Amino acid sequence: MNTTSQSAADREKRELASLRWTGDYLEMLDQRLLPEQIIFLALQEAEEVWEAIFSMKVRGAPAIGIAAAYGVYLGIRHYEPVGSSERERRLDLERKVNEVADRLATSRPTAVNLFWALDRIRRLASGWGTADVLDSSIDDLKKAVLREAVRIQEEDETTCRLIGEHALSLFQDGMGVLTHCNAGGLATARYGTALAPFYLAKAQGWKLKVFADETRPVLQGARLTAFELQQAGIDVTLICDNMAGMVMAKGWIQAVIVGTDRIAANGDVANKIGTYSVAVLAKAHGIPFYVASPLSTIDMNTPTGEQIPIEERHESEITEGFGKRTAPQGVKVFNPAFDVTPNEYVTAIITEKGIVRPSYKENLPKLFQ
Ligand code: MRU
Repeated sequence: MNTTSQSAADREKRELASLRWTGDYLEMLDQRLLPEQIIFLALQEAEEVWEAIFSMKVRGAPAIGIAAAYGVYLGIRHYEPVGSSERERRLDLERKVNEVADRLATSRPTAVNLFWALDRIRRLASGWGTADVLDSSIDDLKKAVLREAVRIQEEDETTCRLIGEHALSLFQDGMGVLTHCNAGGLATARYGTALAPFYLAKAQGWKLKVFADETRPVLQGARLTAFELQQAGIDVTLICDNMAGMVMAKGWIQAVIVGTDRIAANGDVANKIGTYSVAVLAKAHGIPFYVASPLSTIDMNTPTGEQIPIEERHESEITEGFGKRTAPQGVKVFNPAFDVTPNEYVTAIITEKGIVRPSYKENLPKLFQ
């Protein structure tokens, strides 16, 4: 894997994209190094994509899904399928697609976009031994996987823009809005989900005041949200997670908006650890709590939040989170990466198809009809 760094001058010129297909390899911004260093990785192998998702070089539900889709292509592009007929060779390539997808699916458990994107690729490959594709060469089929990955990325940009437009209809010029974690351009193809309305508001001359929770333990709010909003010239104030109640009590927050990693069929929302506390605080202060979510993050196969698998990460994220040890050796640590906000705390879910309000059990299925 090669790396390239970007100078301050380059940075001025181009908006930072977390993922870019160069025509030869997947260029990935190493988000672990932000905001101090802008380093791009050149990923050539599916296994490198697996490692990048696992170690959070790329993170954020939609971006993880996009990366995995490219990962499948990287995993099959040099594969020589075996078989005594063209049909057998196509079937072997389909088997390989599923093998690579199975591996990538083990990289992180909570964000459903990973599985959603891999399923899209699996569906594309299913039936490669049938008459419908008999005219396609092995190379054509491989290219079809790449095209699907590009499509997933392009669709995500459109989706995020639409989410931003719907979200903006809930805001007013001058409002204070609090967000948690990073659900911005870095976590998606572009714009973000929860951060999209901030970009659109800025474009129409509104002055929203954004408060970004720093988001312990990995600090996505400080390292990513504060960084990308500041770069875009948006008024952002960074606070520690435990300051959210105080800024709400001061009357500085008129809305909360967050992204999500998975929404269950009853509207329970899994998102970055700490989101639940923010939702409870919002309710206590009579502040609306909005969740920005593409349809690809709504998992109608998971009935409630209780069935959402919650990733637990290494204890060092807490005991050495600031680059030096900040806790006694041997202390017991609990480090869930996500929590579930029960649906009764969620004022509305903002999707590319519009704004959904309770009852989520009744209204979420309508999105998929
Ligand atoms: O652990 P991360 O950084 O991948 O978690 C990210 C989040 O929880 C985001 O809020 C979520 O994925 C939404 S991104 C549009």
